[in-house]
Amino acid sequence: MGNVSINKLDISYDTTFILNQLDLSIEDGEFVVLLGPSGCGKSTLLNAIGGLIDTTGGSIYFDGNDVTWADPKDRGIGMVFQSYALYPTMSVEKNMSFGLRIAGVDKETIARKVDWAAKLLQLEPLLKRKPASLSGGQRQRVAIGRALVRDAGIYLFDEPLSNLDAKLRTELRLEIKKLHQKLKSTMIYVTHDQIEALTLADRIAVMKDGVIQQLDTPYNIYNKPDNLFVATFLGSPSMNCLEGTLYSNGGKVTFFSADMLLDVSDYQFMKEPDDGQHVTMGIRPEHIQTLEADKEDANLVSGVIELVEPMGSETLIWTRFTSQQTLSHSVSSELVFAKGERVNVKIEPSKCSFFDTETGFRI
Ligand SMILES: Nc1ncnc2c1ncn2[C@@H]1O[C@H](COP(=O)(O)OP(=O)(O)OP(=O)(O)O)[C@@H](O)[C@H]1O
Ligand SMILES: [Mg+2]
Repeated sequence: MGNVSINKLDISYDTTFILNQLDLSIEDGEFVVLLGPSGCGKSTLLNAIGGLIDTTGGSIYFDGNDVTWADPKDRGIGMVFQSYALYPTMSVEKNMSFGLRIAGVDKETIARKVDWAAKLLQLEPLLKRKPASLSGGQRQRVAIGRALVRDAGIYLFDEPLSNLDAKLRTELRLEIKKLHQKLKSTMIYVTHDQIEALTLADRIAVMKDGVIQQLDTPYNIYNKPDNLFVATFLGSPSMNCLEGTLYSNGGKVTFFSADMLLDVSDYQFMKEPDDGQHVTMGIRPEHIQTLEADKEDANLVSGVIELVEPMGSETLIWTRFTSQQTLSHSVSSELVFAKGERVNVKIEPSKCSFFDTETGFRI
């Protein structure tokens, strides 16, 4: 069991509110990632759930029980941090069993749990070793093992992979995902790595300045961002943003930006836009369709290539489409494009996101 419900949570240091009236509901067995820039309050929220910091106001429930003031050790949680903080003089086995030994759990149970966790994390051959003789990835696996033996219903991870190199990070990320599929426990995972968030999460909570901007599936966070912050925080390179004006006339909607004109009637506006509404159009580089030859199309846009960046599997092209703006669009690396060349692209309205420029909200 691992349902988490956070109601109107306030956390402040002195007079500064880090979290203000934050609500968050997490289903039993769900993998929720807290994603956001440095300082936005991810660790603060995680530590409040874990009971490591006092709340200023609001309440936290696990499976309907109020744990707002419960001791961390009574919450039924396992925590894994960025710095694995293993005891250097203890073997892997002793490190993993430390918490259980302190809690007075009997030897047989300890041995069974350590065996189980070691098997799950492929640590069996390393049980007798000391942390100094382990790689970073192995150490982090021991730290995860230490949390697992507690048999918790809820696991909290605070950037567990950020100290590891890129290759290890990818490997361990996969292991954490498999672990979640096996254990089916609730996992709340803090990161500022968008790939980790997109690959691991059932739902992502994108945070900014202590406020959850959007809590949604990775697909919706990436493809249907609720506001400009979410739209531009995810994606590398980031979503192209074009400011312009919408003209609405009897069901036909056109978007006008500098000297670019697009028929965007097929876009699913949440409500009919105002005629003359000032908007920002977002389109991801991979959603701009680059046409190989001259083709006639209603939403065809033509521009001159300013920069070509080969990225390995694909090539990123920066093209000037309006007098004011270049847009990035990706093409297969098999195709050859050169600086100075004229190129035609198609912008599909259904692939775009429109935001009210003033409020930043999706429309
Ligand atoms: N003990 C403290 N006293 C005062 N301010 C604090 C304290 N701990 C954190 N803060 C502030 O609270 C804000 C949120 O910090 P938090 O550690 O939750 O951010 P974060 O999103 O985890 O960032 P990062 O990605 O850098 O770890 C920051 O502005 C930080 O300076
Ligand atoms: Mg943090």
